Amino acid sequence: MIGDVYNKYVLDLGCGCGEFTKKVALKRAFTVGIDGSEKMISYASKENAGSAAMYAIMDITKPLPIKSRSMDIVIANMVLMDIPDIEICISEVARVLRIDGIFLLSITHPAFFCSDWAHEDTNPRGYKVVRDYLHEKCEPVSFWGETLHYHRPLSSYFNAFEKSGMCVLSLKEPFQILRRILRTHHFSLILGFHHLLY
Ligand SMILES: C[S@@+](CC[C@H](N)C(=O)[O-])C[C@H]1O[C@@H](n2cnc3c(N)ncnc32)[C@H](O)[C@@H]1O
Repeated sequence: MIGDVYNKYVLDLGCGCGEFTKKVALKRAFTVGIDGSEKMISYASKENAGSAAMYAIMDITKPLPIKSRSMDIVIANMVLMDIPDIEICISEVARVLRIDGIFLLSITHPAFFCSDWAHEDTNPRGYKVVRDYLHEKCEPVSFWGETLHYHRPLSSYFNAFEKSGMCVLSLKEPFQILRRILRTHHFSLILGFHHLLY
Protein backbone atom coordinates (compact mmCIF):
# COMPACT_ATOMS: atom_id res chain seq x y z
CA MET A 1 0.00 0.00 0.00
CA ILE A 2 2.83 2.41 0.73
CA GLY A 3 4.01 2.55 -2.88
CA ASP A 4 7.12 4.41 -4.03
CA VAL A 5 8.84 6.13 -1.12
CA TYR A 6 12.15 6.93 -2.80
CA ASN A 7 13.60 10.14 -1.30
CA LYS A 8 10.44 10.72 0.77
CA TYR A 9 10.44 11.67 4.45
CA VAL A 10 8.63 8.98 6.42
CA LEU A 11 7.71 8.94 10.11
CA ASP A 12 6.76 5.61 11.70
CA LEU A 13 4.63 6.26 14.83
CA GLY A 14 4.82 3.59 17.53
CA CYS A 15 7.46 1.76 15.50
CA GLY A 16 8.02 -0.95 18.13
CA CYS A 17 11.10 -3.01 17.26
CA GLY A 18 11.45 -1.10 14.00
CA GLU A 19 10.80 -3.87 11.46
CA PHE A 20 8.46 -1.75 9.38
CA THR A 21 10.69 1.33 9.68
CA LYS A 22 13.63 -0.69 8.39
CA LYS A 23 11.63 -2.02 5.42
CA VAL A 24 10.64 1.50 4.42
CA ALA A 25 14.23 2.74 4.83
CA LEU A 26 15.38 -0.06 2.50
CA LYS A 27 13.19 1.51 -0.18
CA ARG A 28 15.52 4.51 0.15
CA ALA A 29 13.26 6.83 2.11
CA PHE A 30 14.49 9.10 4.93
CA THR A 31 12.85 7.22 7.74
CA VAL A 32 12.41 7.91 11.45
CA GLY A 33 10.79 5.43 13.82
CA ILE A 34 9.49 6.74 17.13
CA ASP A 35 8.14 4.84 20.10
CA GLY A 36 7.39 5.57 23.75
CA SER A 37 9.18 2.45 24.93
CA GLU A 38 12.86 2.89 25.69
CA LYS A 39 13.35 -0.88 25.37
CA MET A 40 11.75 -1.01 21.91
CA ILE A 41 13.85 1.90 20.64
CA SER A 42 17.01 0.46 22.11
CA TYR A 43 16.24 -2.92 20.45
CA ALA A 44 15.32 -1.24 17.13
CA SER A 45 18.51 0.84 17.12
CA LYS A 46 20.73 -2.19 17.85
CA GLU A 47 18.96 -4.69 15.57
CA ASN A 48 18.77 -2.30 12.63
CA ALA A 49 22.13 -0.63 13.20
CA GLY A 50 23.17 -1.15 9.55
CA SER A 51 20.01 0.35 8.08
CA ALA A 52 19.45 3.99 7.19
CA ALA A 53 16.47 4.26 9.55
CA MET A 54 16.76 6.46 12.63
CA TYR A 55 14.97 5.80 15.91
CA ALA A 56 13.94 8.05 18.79
CA ILE A 57 11.94 7.81 22.00
CA MET A 58 8.83 10.01 21.81
CA ASP A 59 5.40 9.93 23.39
CA ILE A 60 2.88 10.15 20.56
CA THR A 61 0.10 11.32 22.89
CA LYS A 62 2.01 14.60 23.37
CA PRO A 63 3.08 17.36 20.97
CA LEU A 64 5.99 16.00 18.92
CA PRO A 65 9.37 17.74 18.68
CA ILE A 66 9.19 17.47 14.87
CA LYS A 67 9.10 20.37 12.41
CA SER A 68 5.73 21.25 10.86
CA ARG A 69 5.23 20.21 7.21
CA SER A 70 8.39 18.09 7.23
CA MET A 71 6.99 14.62 6.45
CA ASP A 72 5.62 13.14 3.22
CA ILE A 73 4.20 10.03 4.85
CA VAL A 74 3.30 9.11 8.42
CA ILE A 75 2.69 5.45 9.25
CA ALA A 76 1.01 4.02 12.35
CA ASN A 77 0.81 0.25 12.08
CA MET A 78 -1.38 -1.21 14.84
CA VAL A 79 -0.83 1.67 17.23
CA LEU A 80 -3.82 4.03 17.60
CA MET A 81 -5.96 1.53 19.52
CA ASP A 82 -3.11 1.27 22.07
CA ILE A 83 -3.16 4.94 23.10
CA PRO A 84 -5.63 6.56 25.51
CA ASP A 85 -6.20 9.69 23.46
CA ILE A 86 -6.00 9.98 19.67
CA GLU A 87 -6.86 13.67 19.20
CA ILE A 88 -3.44 15.16 19.99
CA CYS A 89 -1.70 12.40 18.05
CA ILE A 90 -3.84 12.89 14.94
CA SER A 91 -3.59 16.67 15.05
CA GLU A 92 0.19 16.29 15.38
CA VAL A 93 0.20 13.99 12.33
CA ALA A 94 -1.70 16.68 10.37
CA ARG A 95 0.81 19.32 11.54
CA VAL A 96 3.99 17.42 10.60
CA LEU A 97 2.64 16.23 7.24
CA ARG A 98 3.21 18.28 4.12
CA ILE A 99 0.04 19.63 2.48
CA ASP A 100 -0.21 16.66 0.11
CA GLY A 101 1.12 14.21 2.71
CA ILE A 102 -0.38 10.84 3.49
CA PHE A 103 -1.17 9.17 6.80
CA LEU A 104 -1.27 5.39 6.42
CA LEU A 105 -2.51 3.41 9.38
CA SER A 106 -3.94 0.13 10.51
CA ILE A 107 -5.89 -0.73 13.64
CA THR A 108 -7.63 -3.80 14.96
CA HIS A 109 -11.20 -3.78 13.70
CA PRO A 110 -13.27 -2.04 16.40
CA ALA A 111 -16.43 -3.92 15.51
CA PHE A 112 -14.88 -7.30 16.31
CA PHE A 113 -11.79 -7.02 18.45
CA CYS A 114 -13.54 -6.65 21.82
CA SER A 115 -16.56 -8.78 20.96
CA ASP A 116 -17.04 -12.25 22.39
CA TRP A 117 -17.40 -15.43 20.38
CA ALA A 118 -20.70 -17.32 20.39
CA HIS A 119 -21.19 -20.89 19.21
CA GLU A 120 -24.40 -22.67 18.28
CA ASP A 121 -25.12 -26.20 17.10
CA THR A 122 -26.29 -24.78 13.78
CA ASN A 123 -23.17 -22.67 13.47
CA PRO A 124 -20.32 -24.62 15.13
CA ARG A 125 -17.64 -22.33 13.70
CA GLY A 126 -19.12 -19.53 15.78
CA TYR A 127 -19.60 -15.84 15.27
CA LYS A 128 -18.78 -12.61 17.03
CA VAL A 129 -21.44 -10.90 19.13
CA VAL A 130 -21.13 -7.14 18.70
CA ARG A 131 -22.31 -5.28 21.80
CA ASP A 132 -21.67 -1.76 23.06
CA TYR A 133 -19.85 -0.94 19.84
CA LEU A 134 -20.56 2.79 20.11
CA HIS A 135 -19.17 3.17 23.63
CA GLU A 136 -15.52 3.96 24.08
CA LYS A 137 -13.87 1.73 26.66
CA CYS A 138 -10.51 0.47 27.82
CA GLU A 139 -9.79 -3.24 28.33
CA PRO A 140 -6.66 -5.13 29.36
CA VAL A 141 -5.35 -7.53 26.73
CA SER A 142 -2.56 -10.06 26.99
CA PHE A 143 -0.89 -11.23 23.83
CA TRP A 144 2.80 -10.82 24.62
CA GLY A 145 2.30 -9.41 28.13
CA GLU A 146 -0.36 -7.14 29.62
CA THR A 147 -1.30 -4.02 27.66
CA LEU A 148 -4.38 -1.83 27.43
CA HIS A 149 -6.70 -1.75 24.45
CA TYR A 150 -8.73 1.41 23.84
CA HIS A 151 -11.92 0.59 21.99
CA ARG A 152 -13.43 3.41 19.90
CA PRO A 153 -16.02 3.16 17.16
CA LEU A 154 -14.84 4.09 13.69
CA SER A 155 -16.66 7.43 13.98
CA SER A 156 -14.28 8.50 16.78
CA TYR A 157 -11.33 7.98 14.41
CA PHE A 158 -13.07 9.68 11.51
CA ASN A 159 -14.14 12.63 13.69
CA ALA A 160 -10.53 13.12 14.81
CA PHE A 161 -9.30 12.99 11.18
CA GLU A 162 -11.95 15.48 10.13
CA LYS A 163 -11.14 17.83 13.02
CA SER A 164 -7.45 17.77 12.09
CA GLY A 165 -8.19 18.76 8.47
CA MET A 166 -7.47 15.35 6.96
CA CYS A 167 -9.81 13.46 4.71
CA VAL A 168 -10.04 9.78 3.95
CA LEU A 169 -8.63 8.66 0.63
CA SER A 170 -9.16 4.96 1.09
CA LEU A 171 -10.43 2.50 3.69
CA LYS A 172 -9.70 -1.19 3.31
CA GLU A 173 -11.08 -4.19 5.15
CA PRO A 174 -9.15 -6.91 3.34
CA PHE A 175 -11.51 -9.82 2.84
CA GLN A 176 -8.92 -12.60 2.82
CA ILE A 177 -7.20 -11.26 5.94
CA LEU A 178 -10.52 -10.70 7.73
CA ARG A 179 -11.70 -14.21 6.95
CA ARG A 180 -8.46 -15.87 8.02
CA ILE A 181 -8.00 -13.75 11.15
CA LEU A 182 -11.61 -14.00 12.28
CA ARG A 183 -11.31 -17.79 12.09
CA THR A 184 -8.05 -18.06 13.93
CA HIS A 185 -6.99 -15.06 15.97
CA HIS A 186 -10.34 -13.53 16.91
CA PHE A 187 -9.57 -10.14 15.50
CA SER A 188 -9.46 -8.29 12.28
CA LEU A 189 -7.98 -5.10 10.97
CA ILE A 190 -8.69 -2.12 8.85
CA LEU A 191 -6.29 -0.09 6.77
CA GLY A 192 -6.79 3.43 5.59
CA PHE A 193 -5.07 6.19 3.66
CA HIS A 194 -5.54 9.68 4.93
CA HIS A 195 -4.64 12.69 2.92
CA LEU A 196 -4.27 16.27 4.06
CA LEU A 197 -6.78 18.75 2.70
CA TYR A 198 -6.27 22.45 3.35
C1 LIG B 1 1.21 -3.20 18.68
S1 LIG B 1 2.74 -2.37 18.77
C2 LIG B 1 3.03 -2.01 17.03
C3 LIG B 1 4.49 -1.84 16.73
C4 LIG B 1 4.86 -1.57 15.28
N1 LIG B 1 4.14 -0.45 14.73
C5 LIG B 1 4.68 -2.79 14.42
O1 LIG B 1 3.86 -2.77 13.50
O2 LIG B 1 5.37 -3.80 14.68
C6 LIG B 1 2.27 -0.78 19.43
C7 LIG B 1 3.47 0.12 19.73
O3 LIG B 1 2.99 1.41 20.16
C8 LIG B 1 3.87 1.88 21.15
N2 LIG B 1 3.19 2.89 21.97
C9 LIG B 1 2.12 2.72 22.79
N3 LIG B 1 1.80 3.88 23.39
C10 LIG B 1 2.69 4.81 22.93
C11 LIG B 1 2.89 6.19 23.20
N4 LIG B 1 2.08 6.87 24.05
N5 LIG B 1 3.90 6.83 22.55
C12 LIG B 1 4.70 6.16 21.69
N6 LIG B 1 4.56 4.86 21.41
C13 LIG B 1 3.58 4.19 22.02
C14 LIG B 1 4.24 0.65 21.95
O4 LIG B 1 5.44 0.82 22.69
C15 LIG B 1 4.36 -0.39 20.83
O5 LIG B 1 5.68 -0.50 20.37
